[in-house]
Amino acid sequence: MAIVVKDLVKIYSLGSLEVQALRGLDLTMEEGEMIALIGPSGSGKTTLLNIIGGLDKASAGSVRVFDKELTRLGSGELVEYRRSIVGHVFQTMNLIPTLTAAENVELPLVALGASKEERKKRVEELMQIVGLGDRMGHKPGELSGGEQQRVALAAALANDPPLILADEPTGELDTANARIVVDYLSRVNKEMGKTILMVTHDPAVSRVADRILRIQDGVIKADSASVGAEVDVPASYVDMLRSRIEEIDRQLADLDNSFRSGEITGEGYVERQTGLKGTRSVLGEELHRLGIVH
Ligand SMILES: Nc1ncnc2c1ncn2[C@@H]1O[C@H](COP(=O)(O)OP(=O)(O)O)[C@@H](O)[C@H]1O
Ligand SMILES: [Mg+2]
Repeated sequence: MAIVVKDLVKIYSLGSLEVQALRGLDLTMEEGEMIALIGPSGSGKTTLLNIIGGLDKASAGSVRVFDKELTRLGSGELVEYRRSIVGHVFQTMNLIPTLTAAENVELPLVALGASKEERKKRVEELMQIVGLGDRMGHKPGELSGGEQQRVALAAALANDPPLILADEPTGELDTANARIVVDYLSRVNKEMGKTILMVTHDPAVSRVADRILRIQDGVIKADSASVGAEVDVPASYVDMLRSRIEEIDRQLADLDNSFRSGEITGEGYVERQTGLKGTRSVLGEELHRLGIVH
């Protein structure tokens, strides 16, 4: 299990007033799963994400994330946990406006102590992953909201954490940009195997998740249907799967060419090809599960 939360309670004290944000919440999440968390404003979504992310402390209960019991970690261990296990994407873009996109992504790597050379290579790779290889030198103000969120996603992935927490990552975006950002989150889940817990209001966003959980008054109310169990599968999801398969086929063809021209080693070729084929078969199975022949 990636996450096991048991009987989680969070009480905020505001002077003499106590606000009970979480009231005995239970949640389990498997490794590689993508969950959409929905619920009314003030229901405790951000509080839950902040506790799982090690940014806030539980008042009671147990929170296990990748075999670490967070309530027992000391402050030094918590810093290490935040650095190595969790990547955060917030609703409002948390980029530094005076730095370029590439520098924003580089920042977490500097903290990690990577060499200049390593950082450059990794930043390029991360910017490619979010489809912004040609926007490295742009400042946040020179990017669209959707592009900024993709830079934020690249920065969250910088230290290669197994868990991504996204708190309304598309909250401030128009539909088209929201869809693109969610598409990238979904890829990060399916292709990189990252476990993703995402808060959203948007039904179109929650559809890409394996499960949708509803939180109300500080507890999880219902574990609603997974995508496959839905009666009508949105066309956009099927389109996304199809276009991903097409893209992978293009990447496989490119890969063959790179190998032939000696750009990559035999070992690199096999590794990359195995990865792509694995993803392709998962996507194919998903289409099959939805009853679509492709
Ligand atoms: N730092 C804080 N101090 C006091 N109360 C808080 C604090 N953060 C959140 N709350 C309260 O906890 C409840 C849950 O908030 P939150 O987790 O932000 O909800 P959501 O993200 O679902 O909108 C709300 O009643 C909110 O007012
Ligand atoms: Mg919130």
